[in-house]
Amino acid sequence: MKSYYLCPFRLQGKVALITGGASGIGESTARLFARNGAKVLIADVQSELVPYIHCDVTKDSHVENVVNTAISLHGKLDIMFNNAGITGKYDTAISSVEREDFKKVIDVNLYGGFLGAKHAARVMIPKKKGCILFTSSVVSVSYGGFPHPYSASKHAVVGLTKNLTVELGQYGIRVNCISPAGMPTPLAARTMGVVDLKQVQESILATANLKGVMVDCNDVAEAASYLGSEESKFVSGLNLVVDGGYSLRNAGYGFNN
Ligand SMILES: NC(=O)c1ccc[n+]([C@@H]2O[C@H](COP(=O)([O-])OP(=O)(O)OC[C@H]3O[C@@H](n4cnc5c(N)ncnc54)[C@H](O)[C@@H]3O)[C@@H](O)[C@H]2O)c1
Repeated sequence: MKSYYLCPFRLQGKVALITGGASGIGESTARLFARNGAKVLIADVQSELVPYIHCDVTKDSHVENVVNTAISLHGKLDIMFNNAGITGKYDTAISSVEREDFKKVIDVNLYGGFLGAKHAARVMIPKKKGCILFTSSVVSVSYGGFPHPYSASKHAVVGLTKNLTVELGQYGIRVNCISPAGMPTPLAARTMGVVDLKQVQESILATANLKGVMVDCNDVAEAASYLGSEESKFVSGLNLVVDGGYSLRNAGYGFNN
């Protein structure tokens, strides 16, 4: 009889590259991946926070360089986590959206992820295996209250995930994305106009559907760890929503209990 158990080193021997890994969700994921036995490379534009490879995900040559660095350091790339993202100007009225802001958000959130997938596929296809992950958002399955460029970019990430799944399956490459609801990160704090991440956490808890759970970035990191591991070897094309059921509620109906 075969017995199954949770492997504490579920990413043992894997090489992972995480964009936006200097802060928030990416940082938590980098820490968890390392605890789970992976060799982790962090690609970010913030130099002061962690040892990292400077990489602006909107620049083809930067993304090409980090992927090549993973290969020259470790000989392979198993997991490419396209996580870097920005909200852009936080104004939800369409009349206030300028072309430059729209382009900037699409550039980082969508084109940046596309470049990560493109360069990862380049090195994964010859190996006939690999795992590409994206961070989308709960805004990919719910509407209103978020800036239009952000919502559009995160929907597009889900579309890209699914189209890539179909193309890259023939090479044994799995493609998935994760859609978190509000997480206590510097991005969310900026959005809410506060500095204390504890305040962010408490305000998420106050509006949560699933009560009694204090959410943190590790909840997303665990989802990424599962999707990057062999435990999900037949899972591809998934948009894994990590929101405690938040997106299923329609606040307009007043179901707030
Ligand atoms: N925090 C939330 O509530 C939440 C909810 C849903 C989805 N997300 C998504 O999660 C992802 C991570 O966000 P976070 O909340 O951890 O934010 P964060 O601001 O803490 O981290 C984002 C990281 O991305 C980096 N980055 C930004 N532009 C970059 C670029 N051009 N090239 C490389 N790196 C760049 C930043 O330097 C930063 O380290 C984003 O894609 C965001 O849209 C966040």
